[in-house]
Amino acid sequence: MKRKYLNTNSKLALLCSAVFLLLASTTAFGLHYDGKCRSCHTPHNALASEAPLWGKADVVQPPYTQYTSDTINATMGDPNGISKLCMICHSKTTSYGIGSDMRNDHPVSFTYDAALALADGRLWDPEVTLSNIGGAVGNGTIAQDMLRGVDHNQLECVSCHEPHDKYGFGKGSGLGDSLAYLVKANDAGQLCKTCHRK
Ligand code: HEC
Ligand code: HEC
Ligand code: HEC
Ligand code: HEC
Repeated sequence: MKRKYLNTNSKLALLCSAVFLLLASTTAFGLHYDGKCRSCHTPHNALASEAPLWGKADVVQPPYTQYTSDTINATMGDPNGISKLCMICHSKTTSYGIGSDMRNDHPVSFTYDAALALADGRLWDPEVTLSNIGGAVGNGTIAQDMLRGVDHNQLECVSCHEPHDKYGFGKGSGLGDSLAYLVKANDAGQLCKTCHRK
């Protein structure tokens, strides 16, 4: 790492060393491309994005078909923000692709705030409800721990998934493949009940 880099942006440099410390560690995350960090991160010339030292160039996204229902209150758009990074790989037609048809996927990239909770009537208020039902993802509220964007009010893929399987709810955890790198277990619907009141 160049000293010049350290001086100009110490925050990035810190993350950079964190990546390399973890790279050097044999007990680093074992999943998502077998721990090949460079599938997603790069030490130099990183791209501007919501994930640190992002190295995976964006692709032209397909036209998405949005989730719709009679009861939805939120306003959907195409996967955006940090979710867009996931779609670089997951919108492709691979066995891991969730495709471009979002109608049977949980909606993402929309504002989930106190006003939406009130309008819906069956959601917890993310600004005051703790995220720790059925297992903690942090010590804060749903908004602080699970939502993203500058105002911490955007629901994204990483609201439910941790890309490094940091919490162990995924493949190889002994808990079953279907748990899919979740931020918390969902065998009794704990993940869903964190935000949904019923
Ligand atoms: C560089 C390409 C790439 C990016 C970017 C990427 N993934 Fe993946 N993902 C994969 C591949 C390949 C697999 C299958 C191999 C594995 O499990 O590591 C996978 C597996 C998964 C699985 C488990 C699937 C299963 O059947 O168990 C989940 C969940 C997942 N990714 C979510 C995400 C989320 C959320 C993001 C964004 C934060 C993301 N991925 C970003 C390539 C990618
Ligand atoms: C499939 C893509 C993908 C792979 C592979 C990947 N990361 Fe990440 N990484 C991400 C994303 C996306 C974020 C942002 C997560 C967020 O903000 O919730 C991130 C964030 C991080 C952070 C910031 C702290 C954190 O946990 O959010 C560090 C440090 C990091 N990654 C290190 C690594 C290391 C080391 C490896 C290899 C063992 C690795 N990553 C492999 C996608 C990936
Ligand atoms: C509201 C929570 C939630 C959100 C948001 C979410 N997921 Fe998931 N995802 C899950 C759950 C729960 C599973 C496990 C499904 C199962 O196997 O029963 C899953 C499974 C997956 C899988 C495994 C393959 C499959 O289809 O079962 C992939 C890949 C995946 N998600 C990617 C994504 C991506 C990419 C996004 C953002 C566009 C996203 N998820 C948004 C909860 C979520
Ligand atoms: C981080 C918070 C969060 C988590 C976790 C979460 N959801 Fe949601 N979900 C929401 C929000 C917010 C909406 C938008 C509700 C609206 O606009 O009416 C929503 C919408 C939905 C909808 C569409 C509702 C409609 O009226 O059409 C379904 C179905 C749903 N979620 C199921 C699930 C399931 C199943 C899980 C667990 C795998 C889950 N959710 C986990 C926050 C969450």
